[in-house]
Amino acid sequence: MSVKITGIGHAVPDGVLTNFDLEKMMDTSDEWITERTGIKERRIAPKGSATSEYAARASRKAMDMAGVGPEEIDAIIVATLTPDMKFPSTACFLQEKLGAQRAYAFDLNAACSGFIYSLTVAKGLIESGAARKVLVSGAELLSTIINFDDRSTAVLFGDGAGAVVLEDVPDEEGIICTALHSDGSLWELLNCPGGGSVYPISKEMIDEKLHYIRMNGNETFKNAVTRLVEVTREVLEKSGRTIDDIDLFIPHQANKRIIDAVAKRLGLSDGKAYLNLHKYGNTSAASIPIAMSEAWEEGALKKGDLLLISAFGAGLTWGSALIRM
Ligand code: COA
Repeated sequence: MSVKITGIGHAVPDGVLTNFDLEKMMDTSDEWITERTGIKERRIAPKGSATSEYAARASRKAMDMAGVGPEEIDAIIVATLTPDMKFPSTACFLQEKLGAQRAYAFDLNAACSGFIYSLTVAKGLIESGAARKVLVSGAELLSTIINFDDRSTAVLFGDGAGAVVLEDVPDEEGIICTALHSDGSLWELLNCPGGGSVYPISKEMIDEKLHYIRMNGNETFKNAVTRLVEVTREVLEKSGRTIDDIDLFIPHQANKRIIDAVAKRLGLSDGKAYLNLHKYGNTSAASIPIAMSEAWEEGALKKGDLLLISAFGAGLTWGSALIRM
């Protein structure tokens, strides 16, 4: 049995927020943001938008490419940390929007690693016989939890969604190998504490701005580089491949300096690390499927290519997957 990605799609809001726009909103500059992160602009959805709207647009494109109708989908997983509502799941809203009436649907929260976690779960569902065709979407409206009074985080994040369809395609290689890790002892490095059971919604909680993203940037940066290198090597070793076998590396699009440091340590050849963070910033669980979809549209990722994806995020969580397209 082989679990293959047969469709990819993405959708982003039309609204563009450039570094120059941010200069007018806070004490920052295009030069600082570009130098420290590589980000030039990000997409921001209109107020009141639903994460599932973008997930649905991305999913329809992925299903069109796969030639799979809504009635054929057995399971829907949405990787998100910015759900439409606390409950029901964004995956249920997506199911309703797609008319995928047969599917069971649930969300998965592994922050920026959520897409790779979801791919691993989807692979397991197909291999165990619990589903034949699975739709996975990484979808985020991070603008809903950005503190625009905190320049150290506000410049980093954006909105968007990507999606893939996974199916059993016998006699073809598909998702070859994945590796996942977590370290909950480092939760304080990156979190959004308000609105859960520890800090339920209250005036005090909002006054303290606990409903926004909080991050220790330096420590997150260091952990990201170390863990991404480790887990990427783990997946290559487990699958008996080397970095030279890879056609394209799509890392989580958080920061160009993190990606450059990881690519250098892995010994990746120039031009094999795909980058689109200059256009979208960090879109958390959506970043890898958006990048896969764009790379496919541009011809940078083709059928038969050996694709390596790696992500890192709050939790901490990190993971990697080796995929034959
Ligand atoms: N514009 C201008 N100056 C800024 C700024 C901004 N948007 N944000 C912070 N600064 C200032 C700081 O206040 C600090 O000033 P000081 O020296 O006067 O105190 C200075 O820039 C350096 O801050 P520092 O936090 O040390 O910068 P850095 O080089 O570590 O870059 C990040 C900050 C956030 C870009 C970097 O730490 C990072 O990318 N971390 C990883 C974040 C990430 O990817 N998170 C998601 C993981 S999924």
